[in-house]
Amino acid sequence: MPRIPIAVLASGQGSNLQALLEWAATDDAAGRVVLVVSNRADAGALVRARAAGVQLAVLADGDGDALLDKLREHRIRLVVLAGYLRKIPAPVIEAFRGSILNIHPALLPAFGGPGMYGHHVHEAVIASGVKVSGATVHIVDEQYDKGPIMAQFPVPVRPGDSAETLAERVLEVEHRLLPAVVSAFCRRLDAEEPTPAGLYVAADQFVLSLFPEKDLDAALVAD
Ligand code: GRF
Repeated sequence: MPRIPIAVLASGQGSNLQALLEWAATDDAAGRVVLVVSNRADAGALVRARAAGVQLAVLADGDGDALLDKLREHRIRLVVLAGYLRKIPAPVIEAFRGSILNIHPALLPAFGGPGMYGHHVHEAVIASGVKVSGATVHIVDEQYDKGPIMAQFPVPVRPGDSAETLAERVLEVEHRLLPAVVSAFCRRLDAEEPTPAGLYVAADQFVLSLFPEKDLDAALVAD
């Protein structure tokens, strides 16, 4: 089975990229990460890409033409934003409409939009007093964090949480949710059924199996 060529765009430490690389290295993965793009030459994600032998590119902010050229050069069919802190230029969204995914460390549409990234998200969650946060994977369109939601998974906010402790708990979920959604997406692209509707159905099933080793009811009850 030919594997779907994936590009991952990342600005930071790249722990979600690492989760995707580990998934892509499994025998039956329906996709492979063939390109990592960053806007920062010092991003930890680039170190991980190099270690995995994946092609990488550092592109200046907002250079949509260069990004499109790279994606086409590598025949990319799925673009994954994994901690990418720059807006995707409109021509790239247009060319890859419906095939750009983003992972966000909260339950959208809450705690999303401009300025809501990294520790800002978790600080806002804690300040709001909500008891449940989580992770969301959605399709990217022209508006920040507004595209159709593909999958979500809840994470409890515990008394005494700091942005760091909450981020750590959410990341654990992100590292399972993102490969699961990317896998489902690649299988649908492979079957030439790239409809969001198809993925919504699947999401319902795979989300339940993200943490088979855990007692979810117990895990989700805040202390
Ligand atoms: C993650 O929390 C992701 O949801 C957000 O940025 C963070 C990236 O973390 N978009 P990492 O670089 O993958 O470790």
